[in-house]
Amino acid sequence: MNEAQHPVNPVFYGIESYQKINQYIQEKKPSSIFVLVDTNTQDHCLASFLKYISTDLPIEVIEIEAGEENKHIETCTGVWNALSELGADRKSLMINLGGGVVTDLGGFVASTFKRGIPFINVPTTLLSMVDASVGGKTGVDLGNLKNQVGVIVQAEMVLIDSNYLQTLSPREMRSGLAEILKHGLIADETYWNRLKDLSSLDLSDLDVIIEHSVNLKSKIVKQDPYERTIRKNLNFGHTLGHAIESFYLTHPEKDKLLHGEAIAIGMILESFISTELLKFPSNKLQEITTTIIKLFGGVAIDMKDINEINSLLKHDKKNSNGKVKFVLLEDISCPKRDIEVPEDLIIKSFEFYSSLNLTNH
Ligand code: GLY
Repeated sequence: MNEAQHPVNPVFYGIESYQKINQYIQEKKPSSIFVLVDTNTQDHCLASFLKYISTDLPIEVIEIEAGEENKHIETCTGVWNALSELGADRKSLMINLGGGVVTDLGGFVASTFKRGIPFINVPTTLLSMVDASVGGKTGVDLGNLKNQVGVIVQAEMVLIDSNYLQTLSPREMRSGLAEILKHGLIADETYWNRLKDLSSLDLSDLDVIIEHSVNLKSKIVKQDPYERTIRKNLNFGHTLGHAIESFYLTHPEKDKLLHGEAIAIGMILESFISTELLKFPSNKLQEITTTIIKLFGGVAIDMKDINEINSLLKHDKKNSNGKVKFVLLEDISCPKRDIEVPEDLIIKSFEFYSSLNLTNH
């Protein structure tokens, strides 16, 4: 089974890829089409998307509020109700046009409505293009705990058109960059070496970078779609990163942290832990730290908040038998998974992060 390749959503790129959706609609003849958008993609992306879709079928648009705080089951109920009221049936097609919240939540709604209708992802943020929309993970948060409820179901296809990124803020672009850096760190040192010299806004070969990241991710997902083995490597930086993200969602009085911003911190912390537990070379820790701080700046995390962040770790989906399991690095592009980390080392990693010369971006 380990060498087997599992089917993963096909990915198409650029303007030409709209033909693939049109072809799909022509061949599969869905009974109706529903486009899920959020308040941002309704304003900035929907009109240009619809311009490329040629069909006589009615297209209904369902809109949800933008923002991670809306990625919960009540929003799903709203979308399930809308589908039902608008007469969706098992032959309906759902198209998720948006960032990670829209593609994760839309994929979950589609996969569960009438026990599953097909869906297509059209990611409009860098984060969703290189990570969320690809590989079949769908779901929602439970309270402030990330992605606790969901299923793994592959989209019929993913269409990546980087023109949608033109309206994305630099901060949102950086958030996507965190996942791109992660791909280099876990799977491709040459790629990492190239990325570490980029500045966040110097992305002249963005299309090439997006495609390379998607290929790295797809190669992993094809081997292990249900995250029993190698797919866990994609969670590097996410064990502590998700706990930090959940902590900030729990504390709306603090400055909001985007997913990639939390993962960027998580990658520094987990690289530090890697040097302590797996002899990850300290010059490479320095390289990772410098690159991430240059791109993301730093966040001052109060030492008194660390206990709360630590207690959120117990909800991590990679845990088993009550033990928190980390993906760490033996070297760049040599990840090791299912590693237990003593609590004092986690604290030490936060102390290391705090000792860096942090400036908020
Ligand atoms: N975001 C990590 C994965 O899809 O496995």
